Amino acid sequence: MKALLLAGGKGTRLYPLTHSIPKPMVPVLNKPLLERTINYIKGYGIDEIVMSLCYQPEQIMNYFKDGSRFGVKIYYCIEESPLGTGGAIKNAERYLDDTFLIFNSDIITDINLRDLIDYHMASGARVTIALTRVDNPSAYGLVETDNDGRITAFKEKPRPEEITTNFINAGIYVFERDVLDFIPAGREVSVEKEVYPGLLSAGVKMYAYKNNNYWIDIGTPHKYLELHNSILDGLFTYPFIEMDYKNRIVIGKNSYISPTAKLIPPIAIGDNCYIGNDVIIGPRAVIGNNIEIGPGSYIRNSIIWEGCKIGSGSKLSNTIIGINCTIGDNKDVSYGVIAY
Ligand code: GDD
Ligand code: MG
Repeated sequence: MKALLLAGGKGTRLYPLTHSIPKPMVPVLNKPLLERTINYIKGYGIDEIVMSLCYQPEQIMNYFKDGSRFGVKIYYCIEESPLGTGGAIKNAERYLDDTFLIFNSDIITDINLRDLIDYHMASGARVTIALTRVDNPSAYGLVETDNDGRITAFKEKPRPEEITTNFINAGIYVFERDVLDFIPAGREVSVEKEVYPGLLSAGVKMYAYKNNNYWIDIGTPHKYLELHNSILDGLFTYPFIEMDYKNRIVIGKNSYISPTAKLIPPIAIGDNCYIGNDVIIGPRAVIGNNIEIGPGSYIRNSIIWEGCKIGSGSKLSNTIIGINCTIGDNKDVSYGVIAY
């Protein structure tokens, strides 16, 4: 079975972080988000991946290449101008066969894909959509079902008065190939707003796979910070760090930490960092690779991407700093998102 990753969106809600990096490459604990997704999919024996790209495709292709370094085979499908989620699926048609999986590329979840596929096969649906429960569905695609789990309505980004359930489209689908015949070619199409409602009207059987697994869309700075906190707090197991849950401090290779610095768990510090005298880090901070933090600075509940320099006596809280930024001395940043 193949998996199609929709990874062409611009990630505007993460600006300015996504000026220089496409959203699927945003680091999570210092590894691109998409790397974890590939690792997760491969864990279910799915090792052929089709990547649908549009915004800054080179960065993604240069990193993943043919996929062999990650134990998968990757096919690339690149749009000249955005075709939307449905158009991107149609555009990948030549790579897809029988039954396949589709993923939004800005989510992190541990939904059991084996269960999802078994459920799809057992129901005889042409499309199965994984659903997750959220407190406020307004930023997502609300999905209504009957008691058997058959989908009865879609309301993408519902207005408050349209909210009838907390279950939303989790951005993971199982498709039968013949569904592609319903998607028009060569123009922008939204799978959520156009294809799914169209399939419903045509009486095509669509089922919902409801679950209570961990799930997050990292498309906003707030959610991006929340994901890191969930990992640091041990609520979600992330494959690329070995978190020692006793002291919950991770320090990478060749990093110098001044003996007078104070590290308050949970935190993660990358490779080749220099943490100066009397620095306080934590609770909850992710410091990328090659970062210098000057004396007396204080960083908590923040994420700093690789190559940054933080001066002395500066305070960062609830803040995200993009690649290679410099923050001067005695600066105070809270709830900021800073990038070139
Ligand atoms: N190739 C390609 N081309 N990919 C695209 C395009 C496009 O034109 N537009 C969006 N994508 C990709 C994005 O990169 C992302 O991985 C995915 O499609 C979804 O786009 P978002 O922009 O992140 O959509 P959303 O978060 O507002 O809503 C979607 O996800 C929610 C769950 O996170 C919808 O599917 C909602 O129904 C859903 O609840
Ligand atoms: Mg999204």
